[in-house]
Amino acid sequence: MRLEGKHIVLGVTGSIAAYKAAILVRLLKKEGCEVQVLMTPTAREFIAPLTLATLSSRPILVDFFDPENGAWNSHVSLGIWADALVIAPATANTLCKMSAGIADNLLLTTYLSARSEVFAAPAMDEDMYRHTAVQTALETLASRGVHMVEPGTGFLASGLEGKGRMAEPEEIVEALVQRLVPSGLPLQGRHFLVTAGPTYEQIDPVRYIGNHSSGKMGFAVAETLAARGAHVTLVTGPTSCTARHPQITCVPVVSAAEMLQACLDVFPQTDGAVMAAAVADYRPAQTSDRKIKKSAETLSLTLCPTEDIAARLGALKTDRQVLAGFALETDDEEAHALDKMQRKHFDFIVLNSLRDEGAGFRGDTNKITILSPDGDVARFPLESKQRAAGRIADRICALL
Ligand code: CTP
Repeated sequence: MRLEGKHIVLGVTGSIAAYKAAILVRLLKKEGCEVQVLMTPTAREFIAPLTLATLSSRPILVDFFDPENGAWNSHVSLGIWADALVIAPATANTLCKMSAGIADNLLLTTYLSARSEVFAAPAMDEDMYRHTAVQTALETLASRGVHMVEPGTGFLASGLEGKGRMAEPEEIVEALVQRLVPSGLPLQGRHFLVTAGPTYEQIDPVRYIGNHSSGKMGFAVAETLAARGAHVTLVTGPTSCTARHPQITCVPVVSAAEMLQACLDVFPQTDGAVMAAAVADYRPAQTSDRKIKKSAETLSLTLCPTEDIAARLGALKTDRQVLAGFALETDDEEAHALDKMQRKHFDFIVLNSLRDEGAGFRGDTNKITILSPDGDVARFPLESKQRAAGRIADRICALL
């Protein structure tokens, strides 16, 4: 029971994901929490208050006062009682109101009165999630210290597929444990470098050589290390991912040469690095400063190798630093990964195979194997990139 005795106010808003609130209440109770559920009026249309009242062993609060007997539900006392206010699911409507300071229901007034840590697990359709109004609200709330438990990608209730599915209840509980339990911050005071995303090697002003890396795995590693207390410098190639944790400093780069320089600048001051970027191995020998015009002739590009950033850091690494790399392979996976680990002086290597469905580029899941120089091989199941990032962070904590 990692959250023994903690008081959690769980705010449930009007989303189809409200059914997951029932599972969340059960998990929180199992971790030893006392849970008080608040619902917005619309949330009652999605899940019966009786279900949540039974699971939490407390009456559900919706209104400012009980319409039967006039008893006042004090949002101020609730805000003080709570060790954490968790809003899951958090709709676009509630998030935008929170960022604007609107207080037209008990959940919103409790948010404004809360002295505790606040967590929100957004749930909505992808187009709503991407809308500037919602993104601005998320950024505002994150800058005020609200911990966002990022939504995943998958089938949405709208029938569309995309980003906006509420994080799984297990992930929300992990986010709470990492934040609320002091021993859950084993990397306090540590500093890590993480590389993420692809690099783009310019051919001419409109074209480049790139790859399919989304940056999601590297961002998940950075978020996890930060959630465990570390300060993270995230050197990232072009991606659409955003880092929300206040302890992450993003250094955006484009080419392998820029990524190398950014890494060399910071690596000596760190406790280690996780090399999750898909760095281009070759760049055009020459970059044209004018757009190359089409002609009927064949066009050949001469490519020259980029510098191996991980190998360079491996040569600079001191005994007190941990260096971890990735290997994305299509064949002879473990042999290639072992070879990379030795060549680049990694303390461990995270292997993913493109032969495993759901692993590797773009998706929200990964199936990793962690190989160590002593021959240890740990194989993990297909799981969310956040969970896989947790395995990597566990390994780093064990090595430090
Ligand atoms: N890496 C790096 N700089 C490069 C190439 C790779 O930092 N120029 C890092 C990656 O971030 C990863 C590890 O090295 O952690 C292995 O990358 P990968 O592309 O799989 O290996 P390569 O050495 O490029 O071998 P190959 O492309 O032949 O598989």
